[in-house]
Amino acid sequence: MQKLAIQGGISLRGDVRISGAKNAALPIMCASLLSADTLHLSNVPDLHDVVTMRKLLAQMGVNILVPQGDNVREGELSLHGAQIDKLEAPYDMVKTMRASVLVLGPLIARFGEARVSLPGGCAIGSRPVDQHIKGLQAMGAIISIEHGYIHAQVPQGGKLKGARILFDIVSVTGTENLMMAATLAKGITVLENAAREPEVVDLAHCLIAMGAKIIGAGSDTITITGVEKLHGASHRIMPDRIESGTFLVAAAATRGNIVLHDTRADILDTILEKLTEAGAKIRVGKDEIALTMQGALKSVNLRTAPYPAFPTDMQAQFMTLNTIADGSAMIVETIFENRFMHVQELRRLGAQIDIEGNTALVRGTPKLEGATVMATDLRASASLVIAGLVAEGETIIDRIYHLDRGYERIEAKLSQLGANIRRIK
Ligand code: UD1
Repeated sequence: MQKLAIQGGISLRGDVRISGAKNAALPIMCASLLSADTLHLSNVPDLHDVVTMRKLLAQMGVNILVPQGDNVREGELSLHGAQIDKLEAPYDMVKTMRASVLVLGPLIARFGEARVSLPGGCAIGSRPVDQHIKGLQAMGAIISIEHGYIHAQVPQGGKLKGARILFDIVSVTGTENLMMAATLAKGITVLENAAREPEVVDLAHCLIAMGAKIIGAGSDTITITGVEKLHGASHRIMPDRIESGTFLVAAAATRGNIVLHDTRADILDTILEKLTEAGAKIRVGKDEIALTMQGALKSVNLRTAPYPAFPTDMQAQFMTLNTIADGSAMIVETIFENRFMHVQELRRLGAQIDIEGNTALVRGTPKLEGATVMATDLRASASLVIAGLVAEGETIIDRIYHLDRGYERIEAKLSQLGANIRRIK
C-alpha cells in the first residue's frame, strides 16, 4: 500500500493549476448514457474515481475514447453511448465509488430499466439513496430491492412521466440523478428543495448543450421539460472548488503565498470568507485566486450545510487549520454523521480536539509534531496532508488511495509549491 512522507515546516509558495471538478466530471460522464451520439468532454481530471467511472460505463457498452497523439490536450474524453447492452452497475464498482449510483437515472430514462447495487455503508456515514428511489417512483418507475440491487423498471417498456418531486433532504447526487432522468421523461418534472451546488449547474449546462430543456439549476427549484431524445455535445468541466479550497488552506496553514490558476472565486465564497476571517489576505483575479498569510492565524467557527453554505468537503481541512490557530473554534458537521474520523489522527500529531455529537471543539496549539497517521476517507486524507505540511519533522500518511480518488497529482502539485513530500511505494 502506498504512503506519503512529508517533512513539515516549509511555507508553500508559487503557482498551481486547479484541475477539473471530480464531482462535476462523474455525473457528466453518466450523461453520456442518455444519448446515442458522442459527448466530448474536456478538463476531465485524472483521478482514480474517473478511471472507475470509465470502467463502469465501458462495461455497460459506452465506447470511450481518450485522444492520443501529438495534438492531445489534457483531460479530453469522448463518450459514445450508441451500443449500450448492459443496464447494470455491479456491487464491485458501487462499493468503491458511491457516485456509481448516478447511472440509475440515465439508464431508466433511456432504456426503461436499470439494476444498480445498493451502495451500503461507507466510512463517513450510512448515506442512503431513498431520495433517488422516491423520485423515480414518482416518475412511474417500479422499484424493487433484490439481492442487494435496486431494480428499476418502467412498466411495459414505456417512458418515465414528469412529476413534482419534493426532496425531504437536500441531496446532490439525488438532484443530479432525477434531473438526468427527467430530461427524457414525458412531460414536465419539477424538483423542489433541489441541491444548488455549482456541480449541479455544470451538469445542467452539459445536458442543455445535449438538447435538454432545464430551467432553474442553481436554485432550489429546477424545472425540466422532457424531450424525445438528446444529441451529442462538447462540454468543459468546471474547476474543482474543493481542490482550490484545499490548496488555499494548505497555503494559509504553512503561512505561504500562492496563486491558483484556472479556478473560480465566485463558487468559493464561504471558503474565501472563512480564510479572510482566519487572517489570510486574498486577491481575486480572472480565473485566479491569490492568498498570502502573514501575521496571526485566528481560529474560525464553522457549520457545514448544503451550498451556498460551508461545504462538508472542506470541514476536515479547516479543522487542521484551527489546530494551529490562536484561540478555540467550534466545528459543527450537519451533513454526514460520521465525518470526524480525521480527529483521532490529528490528535496523534498533537492536536487538541474534543468531540461531542456532531460538534468538535478545537483548541489551537503552537505546533504539531510529525507522526505516522492513517487516511480514512478522501477529505480526511487532505486534512492529514495539510497537518503534515505544518508539523515539525516527518509525517507518514498511510492508505493514500483515498487521496488518489479525488486529488490529481497532489504530491507533484505540492512539490511545485516547495513542499517536501514524496510517495513511498
Ligand atoms: C455529494 C458529493 C460529496 C459531498 C456531498 C455533500 C458527489 C459525487 N459527491 O455526495 O462529495 O460530500 O454531496 O455535499 O457529488 N441522503 C439521504 N437520502 C438520499 C440521499 C442523501 O438521506 O437519498 C443524505 C445523506 O446521507 C447525507 C445528505 O443527505 O446525510 C447529503 O447527501 P448527498 O448530498 O446525497 O451526498 P452525495 O450526493 O452522496
